[in-house]
Amino acid sequence: MMLFSLWQFCLLSLLLSYGVVELQASHHVYSNLQTAQLTSTHPKANDPYRTGYHFQPPQNWINDPNGPLVYKGIYHLFYQYNPKGVVWGNIVWAHSTSTDLVNWIPHEAAIYPSQQSDINGCWSGSATILPGGTPAMLYTGINPQNQQVQNLAFPKNLSDPYLREWVKVPQNPLMAPTQVNQINASSFRDPTTAWLGPDKRWRLIIGSKRDQRGLAILYRSKDFIHWTKAKHPLHSTNKNGMWECPDFFPVSKTSSLGLDTSTIGPTVKHVLKLSLDNTRKEYYTIGTYNISKDIYIPDKGSVESDLGLRYDYGKFYASKTFFDSSKNRRILWGWINESSSVNGDIKKGWSGIQAIPRTIVLDKSGKQLVQWPVVELEKLRTNEVKLPNNMLKGGSLHEVLGVTASQADVEVAFEMSDLKKAEVLDPSWTNAQLLCSKKGVSVKGSLGPFGFFVFSSKDLKESTAVFYRIFKSHRNYNKYVVLMCSDQSRSSLNQDNDMTTYGAFVNVDPLREKLTLRSLIDHSIVESFGGKGKACITARVYPTLAVGGDTHLYAFNYGSENVTISGSAWSLKTAKIN
Ligand code: FRU
Repeated sequence: MMLFSLWQFCLLSLLLSYGVVELQASHHVYSNLQTAQLTSTHPKANDPYRTGYHFQPPQNWINDPNGPLVYKGIYHLFYQYNPKGVVWGNIVWAHSTSTDLVNWIPHEAAIYPSQQSDINGCWSGSATILPGGTPAMLYTGINPQNQQVQNLAFPKNLSDPYLREWVKVPQNPLMAPTQVNQINASSFRDPTTAWLGPDKRWRLIIGSKRDQRGLAILYRSKDFIHWTKAKHPLHSTNKNGMWECPDFFPVSKTSSLGLDTSTIGPTVKHVLKLSLDNTRKEYYTIGTYNISKDIYIPDKGSVESDLGLRYDYGKFYASKTFFDSSKNRRILWGWINESSSVNGDIKKGWSGIQAIPRTIVLDKSGKQLVQWPVVELEKLRTNEVKLPNNMLKGGSLHEVLGVTASQADVEVAFEMSDLKKAEVLDPSWTNAQLLCSKKGVSVKGSLGPFGFFVFSSKDLKESTAVFYRIFKSHRNYNKYVVLMCSDQSRSSLNQDNDMTTYGAFVNVDPLREKLTLRSLIDHSIVESFGGKGKACITARVYPTLAVGGDTHLYAFNYGSENVTISGSAWSLKTAKIN
């Protein structure tokens, strides 16, 4: 009896130490919703929230973009997908391809549970293009003990540009938690694209945590099959918990062209992006990668917290970049989850979309990245409506007529003739999101709020406001601080939705440059790019009145000072997606 309980005790500690008991990714698990609820493979007719040009499958749950790549002129997007329901679970890699990043055709699932090392799920991962051009796919598998392990798959037929079938290597898993390496078996996932050093060894990182310390565990390999864990992580930070979906890549200091992930040298900075499981926010830092020591050191002031940088200050998670060698650019994909309730998702029959892919480059300042929707999207633009160089008088509202307001692209610049009357920024207002919530669109100021009401009912009862406010710095009255907000608080009469307001400070000097704003509006999403892509905010909204043809678009200025607006709005054609 004594022996038995000792054995039981040992087993329990073993299970705990390998994370078998504490389990799963961060997603909610609704066991009762895991069986197929589908009646058809087509989206429901008259669903006002399905998108016209944002990527989504016909139904069901999706999350992270996986292994994006370009092969023989075809773009590939894989993504986490539940083939059986609208909530997270039963995860496989669904697969679609495109020639232009706008129109997509679906394929059968590319990677799905089929061997011991992934029998309980095929989670996120990344593609590496090996010398010679063969794509190698590394991904996290969940094994029979529910441990997270890393696996490798190759295309079955390299002459198939659609890369429809994938073969898993017999050596899987290639990286696994063991008693020796002390890796937390329930927090060891999402391998990055690998990069090749001058010493001919491959490196990659995997997201992890030890207690509450977030870790980018580094592995090295000579042959891509045998991987050895490095003694030290590439980077780690105290207290911010599990790092999901890390991404590590070089950006050029001298050109706006993208770089292959293995590029190093004096004209290159490195970016490390982390998705924080604890808060569901992503942060990136810009820094220096010392390849001989294999450590990454963020630049001074570049931190993984709300004082640091985010790709997107709204809904945007588990993102991943890839180098598009066909056009020498780096492209960012991100998962946009729902703001609707699970019941709302069941009604819709789907959950999750992907953001419009964005090119990503280092800003001239070297201190942040700049993002812009891929240029291919512009071929959907139609029926341009020019906004004549118009004065938006203090307190004015103008409807933008002639565009399909539920599916549009708006790109404008604002100019202010006199900034002197800007309010002084209270030094305690350091959190842009809080400031935007405190000073929502209904709070009138002097320079701002001005911007757009998107997804508006005619009478503005429902509307989402994307706008700016300009403040004077309290330290120097000749310096200005630009605040960008996306206020969802009146976006829907249906209060079941998350209607959080988002905000970001935009590093633009309105004395010297025009303040630009571009918003991509698509039925239940608005992706806004402020300051030519220096700050991005994505919001999901589910209006009840402002749907389809009843959607209106207004430009407004509720500040007391006049603002000039110029630019265009376009209706966007519907893309062919899946
Ligand atoms: C991020 C994530 C990843 C994991 C995947 C599972 O959303 O939790 O860490 O691999 O989703 O679907």
